[in-house]
Amino acid sequence: MTATPTKRDLLSIADLEPDLPELLLRAREMKAARRTGVLAHRLAGLNLGMIFEKPSTRTRTSFEVAMNDLGGHAIYLSPKEMQLGRGETIADTARVLSRFVDGIVYRAYRHEDLAELARWATVPVINALDDLEHPCQIVADLTTLHERWNGDFAGRRLAYIGDGNNVHHSLLLGCALVGVDLASATPKAYRPRPEIVARAEVFARRSGAKLTFTDVPREAAHEADALYTDVWISMGDEAEKEPREAAFRGYQINAALLAEARPDAFVLHDLPAHRGQEITDEVLDGPRAAVWDQAENRLHAQKAILERLLRGPG
Ligand code: CP
Ligand code: NVA
Repeated sequence: MTATPTKRDLLSIADLEPDLPELLLRAREMKAARRTGVLAHRLAGLNLGMIFEKPSTRTRTSFEVAMNDLGGHAIYLSPKEMQLGRGETIADTARVLSRFVDGIVYRAYRHEDLAELARWATVPVINALDDLEHPCQIVADLTTLHERWNGDFAGRRLAYIGDGNNVHHSLLLGCALVGVDLASATPKAYRPRPEIVARAEVFARRSGAKLTFTDVPREAAHEADALYTDVWISMGDEAEKEPREAAFRGYQINAALLAEARPDAFVLHDLPAHRGQEITDEVLDGPRAAVWDQAENRLHAQKAILERLLRGPG
């Protein structure tokens, strides 16, 4: 079966070009409209299948609540309890699920598996994190920046401190798309993939965003408007625990690093946090952490994403 021409996937945050700015506004509108009931039937009658190969607290819950709030329904599918876990192919799974549901959310170990599912599904497929990207997270993060900066991204600088991983990849592309400057500090051996950087640089030339790279956290954090970090050891990287802990020592958001940033700077973390590694308790529990708003915004961002992909614009 070939893909329907109208279906729209979200495998990379770059798939949201050119309507990412509009999506952030919509996420904020949906946040303001929560509990008013005006959106209660927006996705009425629609069903979402959600395959999670890895654990999740925020992504799973926010998608389920988003579907409920919009009048639809979400079904959590664990590969261990699916025939997928016994060898049914991704292609066959995609073809069958497409006959039941209106969209498929997939948290995968391998980006190739996500692409394979999207290739065979005739309904939209949404990346709920893989080894390459975490686009839905970054839609929520940009929504948080939009809230904090009142939609004015020009000249704002975010500093990312840590691993050049899935979150960093989507952040690079997302910031470049909407015009937020991003200063990245990663150890030399853990830089983001060159093909992602190259693509982000193309977007940045269009939006005017400045992307800079260093291996010195203080350089990136200096006079930044916000700091962002993620775990040193992502899901799937557990075998590299020791070398990673050694390489990332010093790539921590703590009071001293925060003091490098502007006095009104705030701190983001996609969570879950490994307290005492990439971020200290003092910062995470302190008044400059925007992480709880950021986590809440996953819900509003998911709604905007689901509406756009499952219903289309308008
Ligand atoms: N930030 C994030 O994706 O969290 P979960 O792994 O809990 O979904
Ligand atoms: N980079 C982390 C993000 C978790 C939400 C991981 O992939 O585990």
